[in-house]
Amino acid sequence: MRPTGFIIICWVFTLALLPSVYGCPPSDRQALVAFKSSLQEPYLGIFDSWKLGTDCCSNWYGISCDPTNERVTDISLRGESEDPILQKTRTGTGFMSGSINPSICQLDRLTTLIIADWKGIAGQIPHCLVSLPNLRVLDLIGNSLSGTIPQEIGNLQKLTVLNLADNKISGGIPSSIVQLSSLKHLDLSNNLLTGEVPANLGNLKMLSRALLSRNQLSGSIPSSIGNMYRLADLDLSMNKIRGEIPEQLGKMRVLSTLNLDSNLLTGEIPSALLGNTGLGILNLSRNSLQGNIPDVFGPESYYMALDLSFNNLKGSVPRSISSAKFIGHLDLSHNHLCGPIPIGSPFDHLEASSFDANDCLCGNPLKTC
Ligand SMILES: *[C@@H]1O[C@H](CO)[C@@H](O)[C@H](O)[C@H]1NC(C)=O
Repeated sequence: MRPTGFIIICWVFTLALLPSVYGCPPSDRQALVAFKSSLQEPYLGIFDSWKLGTDCCSNWYGISCDPTNERVTDISLRGESEDPILQKTRTGTGFMSGSINPSICQLDRLTTLIIADWKGIAGQIPHCLVSLPNLRVLDLIGNSLSGTIPQEIGNLQKLTVLNLADNKISGGIPSSIVQLSSLKHLDLSNNLLTGEVPANLGNLKMLSRALLSRNQLSGSIPSSIGNMYRLADLDLSMNKIRGEIPEQLGKMRVLSTLNLDSNLLTGEIPSALLGNTGLGILNLSRNSLQGNIPDVFGPESYYMALDLSFNNLKGSVPRSISSAKFIGHLDLSHNHLCGPIPIGSPFDHLEASSFDANDCLCGNPLKTC
């Protein structure tokens, strides 16, 4: 065969293969085009690169594909990031309105869905997302989403990150959430969630951050949380949570930040909690805690912040605090404490405001006894 004939045959052969070799399948592209059509992004033109008739796996802003099969795996659109596209705006932040079109549920190879910090995206979280078996990251923080968290969220067995913070999501935390056995990071902060924290939240053995602050959650703190041996950060602040602080929280080895402030907690502060030397930030402010402050500090106590203000604590400031290695910020104000403030290096840098509005505290930095 003459060389030109061979080249032509190769060329025809390549052309025949083209649709399957190059680019995402039309169904993925159509799903993305429908998704785009439900959103309005007036300032940056982030969807300018999403052109019908082009390959959605190459150069579509925010889209990534699996190179082996050209299926869409990632949608990553952030309105607040270091991305150069955001430098076009005066504030360096983006804005989008519209809603999340359920067409994205047709992207059945999706592993990452990040539509974050666009402020104006409203409407429901498409409940069909629970049928995406490969979803690992669902991050919709910082929009205006309303409606409820899908009841069947527990179906997402590979989910490691669930971030729905800073929206207007209402209803309860679905009980199926405790089935998310791969979940590491849960952030539902700053929504309108009601009802109780699921009693068996402690089933989430992989969880390292549980952030549920600024909602309307009621009920008590589930003691099962004590079983979450990887939990480093627990924030239930600014809710309507009642009852006592479970003793079990004092036994959590990697817990380093615990914010339970601005709730309706009663009872005494568990000794084991205050003596948990892993804790670096503890905020129990603005509750109705009573009894004495346990005298359980030691040379390994290292608090960046310890805020027990605005409670009904009585008795004296525990002497052992002066043996602590470090207390950065201490607030014991607005309680019923009495007696001399201990002397020692942890107290040297503290101001009178740390001890304000108690019954009869005295000594440096307050008036002498
Ligand atoms: C503790 O929580 C209270 C009330 O929610 C807040 O005002 C205070 O700043 C917090 N303390 C620290 C040290 O962050």
